[in-house]
Amino acid sequence: MTRRAVVVGVGHYLPERIVPNSEFEKTLDTSDEWIRSRSGIARRHFAAEGETTSDMGTHAAKNALEDAGLLPADIDAVIVATSTADLTFPSAATMVQAALGMTHGFAFDVQAVCAGFTYALANANALILSGQAERVLVIGAETFSRIMDWTDRSTCVLFGDGAGALVLEAQEGNGTSDDRGILATDLNSDGRYKDLLYVDGGVSTQSTGFLRMQGNQVFRHAVEKLASTAQTALEKAGLSAADIDWIVPHQANIRIIQRTAKKLGLSMDKVVVTVEDHGNTSAASIPLALSVGKERGQIKRGDLVVTEAIGGGLAWGAVVLRW
Ligand code: UT7
Repeated sequence: MTRRAVVVGVGHYLPERIVPNSEFEKTLDTSDEWIRSRSGIARRHFAAEGETTSDMGTHAAKNALEDAGLLPADIDAVIVATSTADLTFPSAATMVQAALGMTHGFAFDVQAVCAGFTYALANANALILSGQAERVLVIGAETFSRIMDWTDRSTCVLFGDGAGALVLEAQEGNGTSDDRGILATDLNSDGRYKDLLYVDGGVSTQSTGFLRMQGNQVFRHAVEKLASTAQTALEKAGLSAADIDWIVPHQANIRIIQRTAKKLGLSMDKVVVTVEDHGNTSAASIPLALSVGKERGQIKRGDLVVTEAIGGGLAWGAVVLRW
């Protein structure tokens, strides 16, 4: 028998306020047409004043627990993937833990920007496989609206806020790729590319800063690195792209999503796409898409799902799992 980290619940939360592209036409030299055609984004949600990353993460976690039919008492670890935690410390994860009424177990954040959810899943998988946890809440939650430069049309039209969560549970499998659960992970980073996507502030520079991005450079890296990390993760699992039921990519740009699918030899009807409605929600985008994909009836029990993401660092990764 082989221990596996199996998804037993999924949920998400989107803040109430929906902002269509036309909002930006009022203050910037941009258009709905440019934003849609260059990125595939039509609208995004922005958190209300005072609404934080841990608030949204808690809502998503509650929805995932309800989907799993579990209580906070059943969970022994909480991981939040985020680059926009409420405070410098403590972690957003400990705030979610408290908001769920948990006084047991442990909680911590993972910061790998838009690739954060793949890193968090790999960490949760390692905790489960090593026997340090039986059930882990893995959350991606972001308030990127708080680090936007609203005068920079090349970035502020692209991002949104939201949260998604999975409950992973230790279960026994046969050790084959037919098992449910996480089958392989692949993580990468290369800090030489820092200047392509970063926030120009932080604790040790005593400012909050704004997101800065050389979009077309990131685009170039994205297509190549996403296809290759997905291939590597599939190889580690003893599978190939032909075995995929659903690609659930990081939702940054529809053109990146289409080109990556093409590189993998997959048609777009095997891809869960939410970028039109959510924009780029960084580490929240994959769990949001998993939750919406399940709600739409796309992702079903037993399906082979591949998630892949890239972001600031550069950091990128992929996770192969059977739903
Ligand atoms: O999640 C983390 C990873 N991030 C990503 O994956 C993002 C990757 N990059 C992208 O999605 C795309 O590069 C963007 C959507 C950011 C930009 O699309 P692009 O086709 O690469 O455009 P570009 O940056 O090469 O800019 C083309 C033109 C420029 O004008 P000039 O220099 O050709 O006159 C920009 O100034 O579009 C202009 N532009 C805009 N025009 C209208 C940039 N932003 C806007 C805008 N409205 N909002």
